[in-house]
Amino acid sequence: MVIHCHLALFGTLLMYSGLTSGDEPPNVLLIIADDLGIGDVGCFGNDTIRTPNLDRLATEGAKLTHHLAAASICTPSRAALMTGRYPIRIGMAPKNIFRVNFFLSSASGLPPNEITIGEIAKEKGYRTGLIDRRSGKQGFDYFYGLPLTNLRDFGDECENVIRAKLPFIDNLLLAVLLGGVMFVYFLKKAQMVGRFGAITLLSLFASPVILVYAIMYGMPYWNGAVMRNLDVVEQPIDLTRFTEMMVAEGKRFIRTRSESDQPFLLVMSLVQVHTALHAADPFKGKSRHGSYGDEVEEMDWSIGQLLDELDTLGLAKNTFVYFTSDNGGHVEEKGIHGDRQGGWNGIYRGGKGQGGMDGGIRVPTLIRWPGVVKAGSVIDVPTSHLDVLPTVAGVIEGKPPTDRVIDGVDILPLLKAGHHYLPSPPHHFLVHYCCDDIHSARYTPGNGSDVYKVHFATPKWDVGTEGCGLFCDCYGNAITQHDPPLMFNIARDPSERSPISPKTETYRVMLQEIEKLLKQHRRSLVPVDSEFNRLKLVPRPWLQPCCNFPTCSCRDSKRSGLK
Ligand SMILES: *[C@@H]1O[C@H](CO)[C@@H](O)[C@H](O)[C@H]1NC(C)=O
Ligand SMILES: *[C@@H]1O[C@H](CO)[C@@H](O)[C@H](O)[C@H]1NC(C)=O
Repeated sequence: MVIHCHLALFGTLLMYSGLTSGDEPPNVLLIIADDLGIGDVGCFGNDTIRTPNLDRLATEGAKLTHHLAAASICTPSRAALMTGRYPIRIGMAPKNIFRVNFFLSSASGLPPNEITIGEIAKEKGYRTGLIDRRSGKQGFDYFYGLPLTNLRDFGDECENVIRAKLPFIDNLLLAVLLGGVMFVYFLKKAQMVGRFGAITLLSLFASPVILVYAIMYGMPYWNGAVMRNLDVVEQPIDLTRFTEMMVAEGKRFIRTRSESDQPFLLVMSLVQVHTALHAADPFKGKSRHGSYGDEVEEMDWSIGQLLDELDTLGLAKNTFVYFTSDNGGHVEEKGIHGDRQGGWNGIYRGGKGQGGMDGGIRVPTLIRWPGVVKAGSVIDVPTSHLDVLPTVAGVIEGKPPTDRVIDGVDILPLLKAGHHYLPSPPHHFLVHYCCDDIHSARYTPGNGSDVYKVHFATPKWDVGTEGCGLFCDCYGNAITQHDPPLMFNIARDPSERSPISPKTETYRVMLQEIEKLLKQHRRSLVPVDSEFNRLKLVPRPWLQPCCNFPTCSCRDSKRSGLK
């Protein structure tokens, strides 16, 4: 058995209780929702949305009310979850605009020398599956899903993610084209160019326009490829019933457990509740919160399907289930008719993309492992996505890497103890990056009953909102720098309404401690190549997944298996 430092605190008694539930090694099911807000879930206080399956996980396991994503946006957040390391350590701390990987065919991805939970589980003889989404296929035997992300462009409302960020794009392109035509016309008129020169110049002006439109309208083809292992099985993706497809794949993977002796690690990375919203018929128009609510309820249903499968196969007792969201709700997200299509972050401020705001990083999280994790417990002390790798390693008695900094800790002792976690919380200190800049930090002294959060920078919200256009940027004019930093006791003031006065003794002592820990954190960083540098992000045609070249169109034959 691997002994982790926190276990030592509890003595041998806890060390053996429950961990060895039978002789069978436990299975692990990790479910990661996309952009789900903490205010969107019944057991986290939403009384008008129906999430009975998540609520069931809360009753049968632990509810983590202070669980933090390592980044407020999907790609870096997921990479951190898979590796237990801050995105900045693994080349996943982006620079402003290019904060997610935009092209399936780009060379950007999790660096191959990083070690994922999948690799740790494989080493222990686990069969590993990753259903949907990219965080690196490293360590996974089986893959099914959209390797990039769900984008508005895959929906049927003719929306486009580039146009959403740059609404003036069409006018700009038109201006480039018209300007070019006029320019060439005058050159020709003035006999400064010949016919050949004019054509060359015209095509020079036209080609960026054509390229941008090709990227915009080709989005479903470029990025909407569904893959099963290394094969493109569907292109462009058909989002209708895609959730059902994923559920079918997940169940199929779980079922292999009963056919072999191999325990499994399955990562279900859901496309929901990211736009394009696409709830299937049984859920359409059924929730009280529009198409977004329908989506949440369908997502909950899909989780229920997986939990039922575990029950049917008698695996529930011996499966560690973890549910989380990759980041907070996207408060700025709206449909073409102005309807709200992003998540709700409850009492927490700000949202997705805002590195230091709890609305962007405090994510609804539930853990169930019958007999080990106390049923119905509520964990209020700060925990993190970073803890997933060490905790899962603890569950399966695998070995996390020791040759690099792992920022997470094994929180099983905390989960076993429930909320009476003494003498010390798992994290005294957590930093919150916005892109590659530290915007905020959280310090938990003593037993965790107080949590001090400082903001060095906060986004400049549009008046009357807690968002900025489509996304808040991380630098320059988009932020307000705070000197002295803003400080809140977020355990007692979760909505960050009453800053602690810099004149108080508490402020002085806490800031001093935070600055010391921050220095230590900065010293522990080793410079690495960024996966977000522009050269890595540009699409590479030779890496473009394409079925039935040159049409790049196909339908997954397994779809017909859906009832
Ligand atoms: C429940 O979730 C919906 C959808 O995001 C939201 O509009 C509503 O305000 C939430 N209700 C509560 C009480 O948080
Ligand atoms: C934690 O420490 C505070 C202050 O030191 C104390 O008031 C509180 O009772 C402690 N909480 C627990 C659960 O022991």
